[in-house]
Amino acid sequence: MRVLREHVGTDRRAHLLQRFHRLRHPAWMGTMRRTVPFSDAWGYDRGTPVDRYYIDRFLMDHQSDIRGRVLEVKDSGYTELYGSDVRERAVLDIDASNPRATVIADLAEADSIPSDRYDCVLLTQTLQFIFDSRGALEHARRILAPGGVLLATVPSVSRLDRRMNDYWRFTPASCQALFGGIFGAAEVNVQVYGNVLTATAFLMGLAQEELSRAELDASDPRTPVLVGVRAHKPDSGSTPEEG
Ligand SMILES: C[S@@+](CC[C@H](N)C(=O)[O-])C[C@H]1O[C@@H](n2cnc3c(N)ncnc32)[C@H](O)[C@@H]1O
Repeated sequence: MRVLREHVGTDRRAHLLQRFHRLRHPAWMGTMRRTVPFSDAWGYDRGTPVDRYYIDRFLMDHQSDIRGRVLEVKDSGYTELYGSDVRERAVLDIDASNPRATVIADLAEADSIPSDRYDCVLLTQTLQFIFDSRGALEHARRILAPGGVLLATVPSVSRLDRRMNDYWRFTPASCQALFGGIFGAAEVNVQVYGNVLTATAFLMGLAQEELSRAELDASDPRTPVLVGVRAHKPDSGSTPEEG
């Protein structure tokens, strides 16, 4: 009986405390109180999707890595925007019907692509569609020339893409472990982007134009919209196991 009384007492106190928090910080959801997003196209029908703001920021931060022979997935848009001294713009896709693709291959089974071939691999918003993400990263490392750099972005808090098999969402910890296991922990730099407001806006299908620069730039690693990873293949070309 005493246990029950104590339990009920704790429960009541907890409910009172929760009520107090709600009254102290009321959350007027307004037009956000809905069960379907405003956009079914990632916000493209309202402006530019929120995650693209962070992809641009990440690539701008690593602009100097986008040089020489560059391989990008689907099209060469980011190579053209951010690259300098680019000697080759290659485009990879598993989809043979992509007219922009110059290399048709599944990155997880990309033995057809020669080793040490590219100075930079741009892998934006692709790894979530590859079930064998580890295999894909092993090939990405293999096809990089010694000294080359992989720039990857992956979704963290994001809706699912129903047009493709959307397998994975990533966290800073899973990226550090996954990329670090292949490139070596010291060769990997993980960055997180987003906060609870921009994650909510992104899920709701709002566009980046509906948020202020300060709101977009606030970073809270508890609720990242995007994770960006820079992974470097050392000049020696040695595998992490070989040191
Ligand atoms: C959403 S796009 C991402 C790339 C684009 N540059 C971007 O930033 O949005 C995903 C692309 O990855 C391709 N893809 C999916 N699985 C793949 C795989 N296993 N190997 C190579 N490409 C793949 C898809 O066909 C598609 O063109």
